[in-house]
Amino acid sequence: MIKDKKIVIGVTGGIAAYKAAELVRILVKGGASVRVAMTSNAVKFVAPLTFETLSGNRVVWDMFDPFTEPIGHITWGQEADLLIIAPATSNFIAKMAHGTADDFLTSMVLASTAKILVCPAMNTQMYKNAATQENIRLISGRGCFVMKPGEGELACHTEGPGRLPEPEEIAELAGNLLTEKDLDGLKVVVTAGPTQEPVDPVRYITNRSSGKMGYAIARAATARGAAVKLISGPVALKPPAGIDFHQVKTAEEMRKAALAEAGQADVIIKAAAVSDYRPGETALQKIKKDEGSFTLNMIKNPDILAELGALKKNDGFILVGFAAETESLTANAEEKLRKKNLDMIVANDVSREDSGFDAENNKVQIIYRDGKVEDLPLMPKESLADQLLDRIMVLRKK
Ligand code: CTP
Repeated sequence: MIKDKKIVIGVTGGIAAYKAAELVRILVKGGASVRVAMTSNAVKFVAPLTFETLSGNRVVWDMFDPFTEPIGHITWGQEADLLIIAPATSNFIAKMAHGTADDFLTSMVLASTAKILVCPAMNTQMYKNAATQENIRLISGRGCFVMKPGEGELACHTEGPGRLPEPEEIAELAGNLLTEKDLDGLKVVVTAGPTQEPVDPVRYITNRSSGKMGYAIARAATARGAAVKLISGPVALKPPAGIDFHQVKTAEEMRKAALAEAGQADVIIKAAAVSDYRPGETALQKIKKDEGSFTLNMIKNPDILAELGALKKNDGFILVGFAAETESLTANAEEKLRKKNLDMIVANDVSREDSGFDAENNKVQIIYRDGKVEDLPLMPKESLADQLLDRIMVLRKK
């Protein structure tokens, strides 16, 4: 979580310096307090005013500027929770490796007590050079987190590794580094998204699930130290970094993948919107229209959650289901909790415009085995993911 954290971003002199502006924007939007220090070469690529405007704080690039706090090069890195060097040039990484302190930013890094995340960006040959690789090994060995650069076409017209990772990825990793690892050692399985049940080679039956809730849970659990397996139906989202990702299409594929995990899981969260029925047969060729109406024969899909519930022993995994309802929210969800032998069910009123399917926010009710019902306010799915994990951790301790 980056909310209320103090982050210093060090911008060094490479063309990717412009991407650091977006990084500052994302971190500030996430509630972090951000300060930016630049090298004198970085100032040639992007004006400090850009970072001052985005961060709301004075940017430092000249140690001897009369406006610079007298011992800012010491205090900034000691007050911060995290330093992010983005982009980190080969030259800057070399200076870090050798403890050089010849300007504000290098001095601050040397005096810092915060975690340090280094995001290299440079020409492919410079990155692959044995000197750079040795320097990266040195700083990693001293506890810096060094991201792998992206691959692709670089500004210098070469192809290969050396591109600054996307600002969203850097911000996500920053969030992970700043999050307490209270789920360390736990295996969490999450299912997300809709299923697709094929009618013929070009048509399928599906539903409106976007996968956002399940992906938010997978991301939050990863940040909190869990080993996460995400079993996902087809969605438009990018799988979160650092998770074991399993793509499925049909309910049957999801069932196989989920049941295979039951033996090793500590927690299983079924956020997926599984299709209850599938076409009795999938036509091998595209179905042609004719004059009359068309009837599709549908057969029942297995209830994956109920099967997991039947497998669950008292000392087994914690099993969490979701309930999508348009009426009698609590009563319907409670019945699902009992029938499917769950520890907790998260009930969604999917008829609301501002919450549930495909929305950024969610308003849910949580129902427990002992009949306790908890009403949570409308909140972003990211916050709800953490709230659900907090409650699962309480259930694990019972
Ligand atoms: N679920 C499942 N397999 C199915 C149907 C649902 O695992 N074939 C799971 C969902 O992932 C969710 C929970 O069961 O965690 C409840 O899903 P929901 O669609 O709300 O309810 P259903 O049990 O399908 O009942 P109904 O559609 O009649 O409301």
